[in-house]
Amino acid sequence: MKKIAKEWMVKQPAFDEKAGTWGERDNLPSDRFPKVFYAGTGNPPDLSLMAKARHDGAAYVYSLLTGYGEKPDPAKAAKFPDVAKTPEGMYFNPYFANLNISMPPPLTSEGQVQYDDGTRATVDQMAKDVSAFLVWTAEPTLQKRHQAGVAVVIFLLFATGLAYGAYLTVWRGMKH
Ligand code: HEM
Repeated sequence: MKKIAKEWMVKQPAFDEKAGTWGERDNLPSDRFPKVFYAGTGNPPDLSLMAKARHDGAAYVYSLLTGYGEKPDPAKAAKFPDVAKTPEGMYFNPYFANLNISMPPPLTSEGQVQYDDGTRATVDQMAKDVSAFLVWTAEPTLQKRHQAGVAVVIFLLFATGLAYGAYLTVWRGMKH
């Protein structure tokens, strides 16, 4: 992770105290995603916390990435003609809150990435992986935290047994 962050081509702005000027530094894993500017209809949002910012984040990102081809439901489209109209330069996507998104479909064809282990890079596979990745970026310590939770519960059960044993021993033979 450190290596990927360090080698990322978009650097972080940094103030050089000696020279008194602004320069650049390499990224750290704790940095936000560097801002990229896209000369289209809008700037892409920072996705580092997207999986947490949206309800059922992983499913949302997956659906958004694979939902472009879907057509508006004709019954609904007739009822809400304004919603069915996609403005110039936008893309219909039933999973986006206002149904028309300015992000062009990023995953369009098989093989846009290559998997080291030879997995077939279908759009579905890439969408699943990028969603899982965004769940990780939103909370990189989640798995460790869950594992610690299991250990804590086991310890507490053990401690409860121990305390109960001590209680029985201390109060043995006493009427209480
Ligand atoms: C696999 C790569 C990508 C993923 C996973 C992704 C994911 C997302 C997600 C989840 C949103 C919705 C944010 C929300 O709910 O508010 C979004 C919005 C957006 N993305 Fe992407 N994106 C990707 C690639 C790109 C690329 C390559 C571009 C530019 C060419 C782009 C431009 C945008 C823009 C402009 C928006 C804002 C849309 C709006 O508010 O109408 N994205 N992206």
